[in-house]
Amino acid sequence: MPMQRLSNKRVLLGVTGSIAAYKAADVIRRLREAGAEVRVVMTEGAKAFVTPLTFQALSGSPVHENLLDKEAEAAMGHIELARWADVILIAPASANSLTGLAHGRADELLHAVCLASDVPLAIAPAMNKHMWADPATQENVRLLAQRGVIFIGPDSGEQACGDVGEGRMIDSETIVARITELFSVGSLSGLTLLVTAGPTREALDPVRYLSNHSSGKMGYAIAEAAIEAGAKVILVSGPVALETPDRVTRINVESAADMEAAVKEQITAAEIFVSTAAVADYRPVNVQQEKIKKKENRITLELEKNTDILAMVKADYAKTFCVGFAAETQDLENYARAKLKQKNIEMIAANLVGSAATKTSGTFNSDLNELNVYWQGGETKLELGSKTKLARQLVALIAQRFSLHEINVQNENNVISLKQ
Ligand SMILES: Cc1cc2nc3c(=O)[nH]c(=O)nc-3n(C[C@H](O)[C@H](O)[C@H](O)COP(=O)(O)O)c2cc1C
Repeated sequence: MPMQRLSNKRVLLGVTGSIAAYKAADVIRRLREAGAEVRVVMTEGAKAFVTPLTFQALSGSPVHENLLDKEAEAAMGHIELARWADVILIAPASANSLTGLAHGRADELLHAVCLASDVPLAIAPAMNKHMWADPATQENVRLLAQRGVIFIGPDSGEQACGDVGEGRMIDSETIVARITELFSVGSLSGLTLLVTAGPTREALDPVRYLSNHSSGKMGYAIAEAAIEAGAKVILVSGPVALETPDRVTRINVESAADMEAAVKEQITAAEIFVSTAAVADYRPVNVQQEKIKKKENRITLELEKNTDILAMVKADYAKTFCVGFAAETQDLENYARAKLKQKNIEMIAANLVGSAATKTSGTFNSDLNELNVYWQGGETKLELGSKTKLARQLVALIAQRFSLHEINVQNENNVISLKQ
């Protein structure tokens, strides 16, 4: 009996009109063996290759096939299906379905479900080598990959049509292994993640301070999600009214200078640094020893710049994988990308705050958020959702980008050693 690494997980399997549609039967069998609950959505095209009855028998549930059918919608319609799934896997994915997905079409039940869902989407393409190599297909793949869609395969080899080349569906064992990895609680196992959260307080006198509205919720949710993903987590926290998540090591700080000192002390233990804290950019030059008295009609506060903790970490500990947060009131992408470049960090998660954000989310102190995540050469949008859900998605993305980053660093080292 294989390890039930997908127990409690709900996989929505999309089957499209490819000659490889029969191979979906083996994918279902392996998913179920791994403990997953499987529901199947078939396109019209797929039904020309395999009957829904086959997949119904193998998955143990009725197959979903119609979008504009009132009976089907009453049972489990496209929105329910989208909500039901923990992951959507399309195997095999035809060239035609890649076009539909890349261009946001919703005329097939499967495509409508994908549009309505915000869970990870994994795609195992299957087609003739010329169809796969066609610039239109490649452009669709690029578009989808850029949006965070996970491609599994295709494989190279002999094809049903007699051609030999790239395009055949990768074996079902590999597909199920990749789906398992997506949920793998160990995606950050063996790693230490240092996260800062909350506001800082910059003292004016013994009773007053300058601060901001940060609640710390996003950082705490990331700490929790990173624990779930198997990391050791150190949380450097400004003053917030939140409970420490289980198994997280929390270090409390007040001012930006305290936070800087705590981060410096802990950073050498961490491979990943996530900076969510709303660190004050400035602090008062003079902190009054006694309470400032209400005498003058007008007083002037002189401020000096605090250290940029994230930039400091990247500059002094270059190997650390650094993730920043940018809260902007306008022109999100430009500001976020500028920060990414200027601080030389690996990833930045950006959100709108202030009046521009109120239409959708509150961000500061809200339980909801939405994030645009940018890295060099790519980006993805994490749609409006609870901070817990977004944190899980962000941690999965961090794990993914971190492992690619490690491979690149290793490659660079190999190139350097070859040159020497
Ligand atoms: C015998 C046969 C085999 C086919 N195999 C594939 C295939 O492997 N991959 C593919 O992308 N299209 C293949 N097609 C074309 C698709 O079935 C066709 O584009 C269909 O519209 C796809 O529908 P769907 O994407 O809605 O499922 C095949 C067509 C035929 C007649």
